[in-house]
Amino acid sequence: MKTKTTFFCQSCGAQYAKWMGQCQSCGEWNTIAEEVVQKEEKRAWKAESQGVRPINKPLKVSEIVLDAENRISSTDTELDHVLGGGIVLGSLVLLGGEPGIGKSTLMLQVALNMKQNVLYVSGEESQSQLKMRAERLHQKDSDCLLLTETNTQNIFRHITEIQPDVVIIDSIQTLHTDAIDASPGSISQIRETAGELLKFAKETATPVFLIGHITKDGQIAGPKILEHMVDVVLQFEGDRHHIYRILRSQKNRFGATSEIGIYEMQQTGLREVTNPSELLISQKDQALSGTVIAATLEGMRPLMIEVQALVSSAVYGTPQRSATGYNIKRLHMLLAVLEKRAGFKLAIKDVFLNIAGGIQVDDPAIDLSVIVAILSSNENIEISQNTCFAAEVGLAGEIRPVTRIEQRIAEAEKLGFEQIFISKFNKVAQKDFKIDIVTVSKVEEVYRKLFV
Ligand code: TYD
Ligand code: MG
Repeated sequence: MKTKTTFFCQSCGAQYAKWMGQCQSCGEWNTIAEEVVQKEEKRAWKAESQGVRPINKPLKVSEIVLDAENRISSTDTELDHVLGGGIVLGSLVLLGGEPGIGKSTLMLQVALNMKQNVLYVSGEESQSQLKMRAERLHQKDSDCLLLTETNTQNIFRHITEIQPDVVIIDSIQTLHTDAIDASPGSISQIRETAGELLKFAKETATPVFLIGHITKDGQIAGPKILEHMVDVVLQFEGDRHHIYRILRSQKNRFGATSEIGIYEMQQTGLREVTNPSELLISQKDQALSGTVIAATLEGMRPLMIEVQALVSSAVYGTPQRSATGYNIKRLHMLLAVLEKRAGFKLAIKDVFLNIAGGIQVDDPAIDLSVIVAILSSNENIEISQNTCFAAEVGLAGEIRPVTRIEQRIAEAEKLGFEQIFISKFNKVAQKDFKIDIVTVSKVEEVYRKLFV
């Protein structure tokens, strides 16, 4: 048989008949590579030949019964929450994240804890390494089966024999199928092996989890096609040097994508964090200048976050600006606002900004805390640890309203804050809350209220 080759963009998975310098689909340069494909039907998963009858048949809308039974619990409340209430039978879930962030730890932990019959297939670690991991997680006597294998034909042979309730693949980039000749991790292998697993998941109603590595710019390494194929895309994020990890859903055919799960990486595995606000605030008893608490929202969850700023005289010509966990462009913008609208001479100052806990915050409601933290450090005046902030700051120095303000205020009140600064344009009734609500409309007003 003649070998057939095709050209694939290694970034987006677009297919070409000949080589080109630039991908016409995603615009990337030098990403198109030749891969060997043999278009003959030699799929690893063929339901009929494996003796498993497809369980789905066409039905009218009226015939479809909605039963609560089509979800199973992963035993991990955060994961269940992010998935929209448990694992949907027959779903294909992609868990992406940077190397070393804890994807294998999370999935192994789930596999070991589940009461169902779980098959954990690793192409990355040997069985003894997996045993060591399991021991570290204090889970030695689980019924979960661990398999080291990368060939899908062999994996499906085991699956047919074991008949697992859940399959976990660590990772999709290590798999290869005999059906095509390309090397593991290439676009055509990823597409083909994921396709086989998708077919298996749908035909047998078995949930399948795929672990996928992520490139530096946050894409599931290799193909975006994977994101289109799967039902759910979960992203595991965090700073490797910090203990917090956030599980976010980027796509979910069975639930909302705004849900997040928060974990703490410990020596004995990942621990679910049920009250994150309390943990992210480092010292609540002692006020320090430059430290301010923001009432933010991560997904649907209110989260109190500590913002720290350090303003010092610039030693060299160009003042330094640095931001950890916050968009540096936005910091520049807020500094310009302070300079222009409120007359602060920050151009001769170095400004460092840090969000505690190593988390990345995109919620614009953190703006006001950033401004207050900078001013507090600049003036060397502490902000009471019983005060928190939630508002966006506009280019004109106006304090803008933010979404779900009641939820933020309620969280602040619950955690014992006595005062919250919000935008004048966020309409809330003080009588509904015990916490003192301070409304502001301009940066100057904030400055006057806090530092004069
Ligand atoms: P891992 O799950 O291997 O990451 P990934 O699969 O995403 O590449 O986790 C790697 C890190 O987690 C590693 O640096 C060690 C740490 N770790 C713990 O802190 N506690 C634990 O119980 C385990 C198993 C790992
Ligand atoms: Mg791993």
